Amino acid sequence: MSMSQGTPAPQWNPDQDETLVCCAIRQETHDVKTFIFQAEQPRRFHYQPGQFMTFSLTIGGEEIHRCYTLSSTPTRPDRVSITVKRIGDGPVSSWLHENLRPGASLKALGPMGDFFCEARAGGKYLYLSAGSGITPLMSMTRSHHDLASGADIAFVHSARSPADLIFRDELDLMAKSAPGLKVTAICETDSEAEVWAGHKGRIDLALLEAIAPDFREREVYICGPAPYMAAVKTMLENAGYDMARYHSESFDFGELSAASEPEASTSTEGFSVEFKLTRRTITIAPDKFILAAAKAEGMRLPSSCTKGMCGTCKCRLVSGTVDMTPAGGIRQREIDQGMILICCAKPTSDLVIER
Ligand SMILES: Cc1cc2nc3c(=O)[nH]c(=O)nc-3n(C[C@H](O)[C@H](O)[C@H](O)COP(=O)(O)OP(=O)(O)OC[C@H]3O[C@@H](n4cnc5c(N)ncnc54)[C@H](O)[C@@H]3O)c2cc1C
Ligand code: FES
Repeated sequence: MSMSQGTPAPQWNPDQDETLVCCAIRQETHDVKTFIFQAEQPRRFHYQPGQFMTFSLTIGGEEIHRCYTLSSTPTRPDRVSITVKRIGDGPVSSWLHENLRPGASLKALGPMGDFFCEARAGGKYLYLSAGSGITPLMSMTRSHHDLASGADIAFVHSARSPADLIFRDELDLMAKSAPGLKVTAICETDSEAEVWAGHKGRIDLALLEAIAPDFREREVYICGPAPYMAAVKTMLENAGYDMARYHSESFDFGELSAASEPEASTSTEGFSVEFKLTRRTITIAPDKFILAAAKAEGMRLPSSCTKGMCGTCKCRLVSGTVDMTPAGGIRQREIDQGMILICCAKPTSDLVIER
């Protein structure tokens, strides 16, 4: 698989390349693993630190799509990695933890996404994360460290206990050698093996003032569970922070899209849309997106970003025509093969969809 010395591998092309081969797995904490991949053919990956890929897996005969942020840094372009927290009975995170082995391959789309930061010399940043939301901020920090960017970064990570601190040693090591990087961990409780000697509890204004008194001058990048993000957002707003400089990523697109989705009312006039596998036929007005209309009818269909970005809602169009405005979540050759993203497609005729 290695190229002869001096010949750079071609760049990973998301329109053509799709197969990643797992080359190593690292246990980060008791419920978090990092999976490192190389492309099936020699490729170099080009992306922004903070972007994600959408992985397609076939589990129990069903194709499932999930997005994972690249925790790796684009400054080391021969490999990409994802860092996955096992979520109870969650089908994909459990499958990856239990079944993915070095040598196995997965299909992936991307990298993509608009949550990224290229730290600049002279720039001042506040990275805030909780739990597995650390992954995009880790990619940004690794990139900053490799490039000796000269930026001033205050990285404040919250975890349940010391046993849940992801990338703890590597962050400490980077902070030792990068003068502009200050890393602070906050733990809610002790763990069985360790009494936490650092900041304890949850992030609040007093703690943030103590860690980064100049936080109002910093550009904020934040990722974590929805309640954490909501609490921090309110805290920053109340503290007079300029929210134009606030950048966030949610691992649950559903929550964001539910808030931003236009209300899709059920329709009696429009095109007949048959979902072949679900055995349901509904009527969708020509100005409505198929996914939103189906949800309004009570159907549960796989989706994530609802903006044509992630590819989660991809289905085969058996017959009919649509007006589609994708944003990177589908390849041209997939469109040519009759695939559509139902979150950003409106019917222009009666349809039969394989879903
Ligand atoms: C842009 C993007 C980037 C992501 N990056 C990562 C990443 O770097 N690492 C990672 O572990 N996951 C990441 N996720 C979440 C990931 O896509 C899956 O949702 C997750 O692995 C659970 O999948 P599942 O099939 O096991 O369970 P599901 O059936 O999909 O989820 C079970 C439940 O857990 C919730 N949930 C999903 N993710 C989390 C989480 N991290 N912590 C707590 N609850 C969660 C879901 O909302 C759902 O209610 C990302 C999601 C998005 C949209
Ligand atoms: S839900 Fe993300 S592309 Fe449709």
